[in-house]
Amino acid sequence: MLRDALDRPLTDGFIVHGTDVETRWESDVPAVTPIDRFFVRNHTRPPVVDAGLWRLLLTGDGLYQDTTLSLADLRDLSPVTEELALECTGNGRHYFDRQQGTPRPGTQWETGAIGVARWTGVPLARVLRRVGLRPDAVSVMAVGLDDPYVEDGVDHGRVRRPLPIQKALDDVLVCWEMNGEPLPPDHGFPVRLVVPGWVGIASIKWLGELRVTRRPEPSPWNTRWYRMHGEGWHGEEAVLGRMPVKSLVDTLEPVPAGRPVVLRGRAWSGEAAIAGVELSTDGGASWRAARLVGQNRASCWTAWEAEVVFDRAGEHCLVTRAVDTDGRTQPDVSPDNDQGYLFSAPIRQSLTVAG
Ligand code: MTE
Repeated sequence: MLRDALDRPLTDGFIVHGTDVETRWESDVPAVTPIDRFFVRNHTRPPVVDAGLWRLLLTGDGLYQDTTLSLADLRDLSPVTEELALECTGNGRHYFDRQQGTPRPGTQWETGAIGVARWTGVPLARVLRRVGLRPDAVSVMAVGLDDPYVEDGVDHGRVRRPLPIQKALDDVLVCWEMNGEPLPPDHGFPVRLVVPGWVGIASIKWLGELRVTRRPEPSPWNTRWYRMHGEGWHGEEAVLGRMPVKSLVDTLEPVPAGRPVVLRGRAWSGEAAIAGVELSTDGGASWRAARLVGQNRASCWTAWEAEVVFDRAGEHCLVTRAVDTDGRTQPDVSPDNDQGYLFSAPIRQSLTVAG
């Protein structure tokens, strides 16, 4: 079953949840996630598409005329390559149960439904302007070529989600390469969107159509799913866009007691860079500042490190909390919601200190 759904060898680097797989969070996850460790989340199954015959349809009353573009047409629009994170909206869902005692249905992602890849493509803004965007366009519906999504006998149509025009014209990419290789079938071959800093569902794979409209156009992927609601949700019902700020420890193999050790980890935030990370080695009783290392850009992860001396051997509870450059922080408790989206509270990780 799994082999049918996934076009890749299954390595030990994955935790498998049915047809979804996540990266096992260990210290060897590099700054750029290799394709054979990158998480996969398919509502359906990868369609078989011939890249030579593939065309992107550009339709809707927000354009002056309908147009089709081939892959060669896209390649002519001065491609760019950017390192960006892609994260599933439900990443961390398992911790609604494990840390907050409110299990939520859906894939029980731990921490690895996120990856950073080097994406090659062209800005969506360039594509839309090239084909003739009307100034009063407000929405861009991205439609996948995968089979319609059927749940409990109800056909919800093709996987699709609208982007507000402001985001569409800001930093969204229309991509055909990942880490220098053509997109693998699981990741959207031949062409997908990459929507920096937004919920993973916005990054529609196997892109077939962009429908640009002068009125907002809904889809079940922003009215029924991927919005905050339910008894435990006390805010306004909100369509999900930007991802929250999060952080984790990478060093999870045993370390010695009684001498300095460097703990490493990473932090990230949708549409913002990281302003600071704090680490606790005693389950949140006391905190120290970590050092940010290397590049620190919005919608990508930033490495951090901190030197620690553990006085005693045994299990230690590590916790981290980050703040982003917009001042957003990680809440002590992640806001509850029926579908278990956006878990962003600090995650308690266990480290063995050897005597
Ligand atoms: N696009 C289509 N057409 N069909 C899908 O099922 N899954 C979405 C998004 N794009 C999906 C899709 C979800 S929920 C996520 S988290 C990301 O793709 C996952 O991208 P990946 O599998 O390349 O990691």
